[in-house]
Amino acid sequence: DPVRMEKIVSLCKRRGFIFQAGELYGGLNGCWDYGPLGTELKRNLKDYWWRKTVQERDDVLGMDGAILTMEAVLQSSGHIGGFSDPMCDCLLSKARLRADQIEPQSGTVYHFSGATLPEAEWKSEKAYSVLQITGYDEAKTRKTAREYYAQFIKESTMSKKEAIKAIQLQGETTEQVTGTTRYNPENGSLLTEPREFNLMLQTNFGATGEQIAYLRPETAQSIFCQYKNILDSNRVKLPFGIAQIGKSFRNEINPRNYTFRSREFEQMEIEYFCHPDDGMRLTEEWLETRLEFYAEIGVPRNKLHILDVPDGERAFYSKKTYDIEYEFPFGIQELEGVAYRTDYDLGVHQKGANKPLEYYDEETKERFLPHVVEPSAGCDRTVLAVICEAFDEEDLGKDGKSDVRTVMRFVPAIAPIKVGIFPLMKKNEEQVRIAREIQKMLQPWMNVFYDDGGAVGRRYRRQDEVGTPFCVTVDFETLGEEKPEFKDTITIRHRDSMEQERLPIEDLLPWLLARVR
Ligand code: GAP
Repeated sequence: DPVRMEKIVSLCKRRGFIFQAGELYGGLNGCWDYGPLGTELKRNLKDYWWRKTVQERDDVLGMDGAILTMEAVLQSSGHIGGFSDPMCDCLLSKARLRADQIEPQSGTVYHFSGATLPEAEWKSEKAYSVLQITGYDEAKTRKTAREYYAQFIKESTMSKKEAIKAIQLQGETTEQVTGTTRYNPENGSLLTEPREFNLMLQTNFGATGEQIAYLRPETAQSIFCQYKNILDSNRVKLPFGIAQIGKSFRNEINPRNYTFRSREFEQMEIEYFCHPDDGMRLTEEWLETRLEFYAEIGVPRNKLHILDVPDGERAFYSKKTYDIEYEFPFGIQELEGVAYRTDYDLGVHQKGANKPLEYYDEETKERFLPHVVEPSAGCDRTVLAVICEAFDEEDLGKDGKSDVRTVMRFVPAIAPIKVGIFPLMKKNEEQVRIAREIQKMLQPWMNVFYDDGGAVGRRYRRQDEVGTPFCVTVDFETLGEEKPEFKDTITIRHRDSMEQERLPIEDLLPWLLARVR
């Protein structure tokens, strides 16, 4: 639903959730800056994850590793040799695309030496003969190259075998077949066969820049490398996990879908170390734990899809991988992977560093390399899912007149602002004084927003749009002027139901804490 996505992106910019990085200078592709409200939201999400994953569990410890990573680490982990995506180049526009993003693929063109020519030459006899050889209708060849191919693929039913045979019949040799080209009917581009493109971002340091380091492509590697230090310094026993939240970097071929695929992003990862016999069972347990987490932050189970990644599509060392996917407005896409990685990671680092990483079980007298279950989530992707899920438009119009209310239905625990505080009348000094006092009282406990501008109905709507679950209004009744029994009470207005109730000021803090924490 592109319209819904456009509305979400525009709200995020208008209200200060997310901006394009470097926008002032034209923008840095694949990088995003979070504005004041986006920062609160992301921070709340990370805090909630940390609390649930580390603080409320006895078996998970936290760490915060360096972003700059030694070459040797990534050599052992396999990233230097193999952390790549298949990339295609478009012969006409010179654009680069991830192979799996070229969809729909309606056909393949077999092309020949001399066939990958600049556009002007496509109109020449060479291109003409190539098309003839592979069975294209002669009468239609007086077109531009783009059209030639677009038409050709739609109309040709020739298989590769048949094409090669036709070429041979024309006296050309099959060695002249240099490859195949993919055609993307969406934009008429011609794309080479995929080649591998390494996604790591490299940097140099040291006085003369002689030392190579990489910006980490995942937070996981520092966890594996510190596993032994954490084990020894904390006297923990298997099974136990190490959790980390932090930035990762990938030179994505084409970042897209807003913050979904970025070049700089944050991950929330757990590496859970266990006995080999427990790996499968713990993978299932972690999947459940993670699904509960998403429900708690406002992404319900019925919007998630669990993909049991089949044999052949998992990493070669993984015995089981679940992808947790969400129904984004731009399609069903991955939020998190829960992967049983066996002893692959500790194994490669033990070998690469030539240091023993085995675990000795005092009780069973068993010595072994622990296996790892890894729930690895994207922080920015989760924020995006939460935003997409929260976005709602409600028509409150009457008598045929439309009155659309935009509401972000964030769960209170992660809403950027917990409560809006309004004096009903900006000019009433007593209302302002009390409202400011309430602000001071709540500020140490939660993020609040004071607003005295414009009609109170407007102020409510502005808070609805950024997902503030409650608004408190100090009105004439608070002052006890008309009804003395209401003195020192305020109005609380609920975002979702828009219902209002009165509460004594002294009960406000516990009332809010019970709902926003
Ligand atoms: N240590 C395992 C690992 O990094 P991954 O599937 O490559 O696995 C885990 O990444 C999660 O990190 C993904 O599910 C996604 O949420 C997030 N992620 C990966 N690449 C991303 C990107 N380019 N932009 C935003 N998030 C990304």
